[in-house]
Amino acid sequence: MTEQILDHIQNIFPAEQDIPEKYNVKAPVHQTTYLCDGKLVEWKGEMKDVYSPIYIKEKGKLTQKYLGSYPLMTGDEAKNALEAAKKAYAKGTGVWPTMKVKDRITYMQRFVEKMQAKRTEVVNLLMWEIGKNLKDSEKEFDRTVQYILDTIDSLKDLNRRSSHLEYESDIYAQIRRGPLGVVACMGPYNYPLNETFCTLIPALIMGNAVILKPAKYGVLLLSPLLDAFKQTFPPGTINIIYGSGRETIGNLMKTGEIDVFAFIGTSKGANGLKKMHPKPNRLRSVLGLEAKNPAIILPDADLDLTVKECVLGALSYNGQRCTALKMIFVHDAIKDEFLKRFVAAINNLKIGMPWEDGVQITPLPEPDKPAYIKGLIKDAQDKGGALLNDEGGAQNKSFIYPAVVYPASPDMDVFHEEQFGPIIPIRSFVDIQEPIDFIVDSNYGQQVSIFGSNSDEVAKMIDPMINQVCRVNINSQCQRGPDVFPFNGRKDSAEGTLSVYDALRVFSIRTLVACKNHGVNKKVLSEILEDRKSNFLTTDIVL
Ligand code: G3H
Repeated sequence: MTEQILDHIQNIFPAEQDIPEKYNVKAPVHQTTYLCDGKLVEWKGEMKDVYSPIYIKEKGKLTQKYLGSYPLMTGDEAKNALEAAKKAYAKGTGVWPTMKVKDRITYMQRFVEKMQAKRTEVVNLLMWEIGKNLKDSEKEFDRTVQYILDTIDSLKDLNRRSSHLEYESDIYAQIRRGPLGVVACMGPYNYPLNETFCTLIPALIMGNAVILKPAKYGVLLLSPLLDAFKQTFPPGTINIIYGSGRETIGNLMKTGEIDVFAFIGTSKGANGLKKMHPKPNRLRSVLGLEAKNPAIILPDADLDLTVKECVLGALSYNGQRCTALKMIFVHDAIKDEFLKRFVAAINNLKIGMPWEDGVQITPLPEPDKPAYIKGLIKDAQDKGGALLNDEGGAQNKSFIYPAVVYPASPDMDVFHEEQFGPIIPIRSFVDIQEPIDFIVDSNYGQQVSIFGSNSDEVAKMIDPMINQVCRVNINSQCQRGPDVFPFNGRKDSAEGTLSVYDALRVFSIRTLVACKNHGVNKKVLSEILEDRKSNFLTTDIVL
């Protein structure tokens, strides 16, 4: 088995002729424009080359597939995008922030139609740029479309609920939600479409003006959508810039004119950028950050189910999910059987190129990640851990085989660090307090998975755990979805809550029109409502 796997790893990369025609990138994508003030502005400056994590075999040599390039913009051009966003928002008086909700919904419906026409191109680039398998790339696209449709429905609902006047203590009021201003939006490389749009779409539809900078990897996949953005939205409401986060968004933060910072990535990256803003009270942050979600396997867990969920949880998209299971605690009484079955299940995972049918383990987009994973394995071995699968850590360029490390101990780096890749530390326990302490003492507080079939024991874990993390999963891997559920975290794992429902709220603020029931007010109110004189003060509903 080991030899077979090692041989496969050595020959994992295809020759050009092995790549199915329909999935190949026929010509490099050169993104030579950026979207600013409703125009695709030609970029004449330095470009950043984009290489795929997928290598191509030619005459016994492996070469990284060249995918194209994008602008390496500086702070100055980023500031042009800021000016465009400020102009569109016009301190809250612009066409977009004062538009009827119904009309903003119409714009978004037009955009989503245009976006759907680009599915094949975007999915293909997802595979090539970040190595996500075909099934998950398609899922990412479809999930994002669904997210937009659900957001539209949720906004209609929100609008319906506030389309009436309150009357309290002799005061009439209409309470709605208004936009916050200019939003800087940055997504992560593991969900460069979905997670980026999970902040971009609600920010836009609530009437804000947005400056979007794509993730470090997964940049070109936005190119097929640039025209749709340009054609759909009023100039300056959505601006898309390229380059390093520090140089572009960093320089915008320093101006103090960003009202909302929406960022999915590491707490280090988020904190560095947040600190640059000179007016911390003006800035609202919406952050999805790292996590170290553990699985806790109780002695009576159903092992078939547990192994299946733990493999999925630890290794979907090679473990590059903030919600991945990054530490497994298994009760001593079942550890031998669990380890045996877990390693066997990993051996059965199909490795290969993203377009291959049923493939689960693929090359990694971060060039340093395989060396980092190997470093974690070595550190664990130096500190008494064993590598349970012989092929664990076997590498070929950007591909590294999942490694199972046991027993993981607190002095190992992999015990604390968010590995965000294919290494799974496992530790056995006798006293349940040990995994509980791991969670309590952790800097993170996103989710936990508890595996067990005795309801008394599972219930005993739920009550303390729910106050440590924000989602307790029972006999199920950790995950964000479905996107209508709240997605958040404690400590260094998040700031704010993102779900379809919550995101509309984090990108807006409650604001009201009120008047005392005296004088001419009844007449004024009635005339505004009956003659539809205001876009805000209205009892119209959107069906
Ligand atoms: O990287 C973090 C993602 O939000 C995880 O989403 O659990 O649906 O894969 P997921």
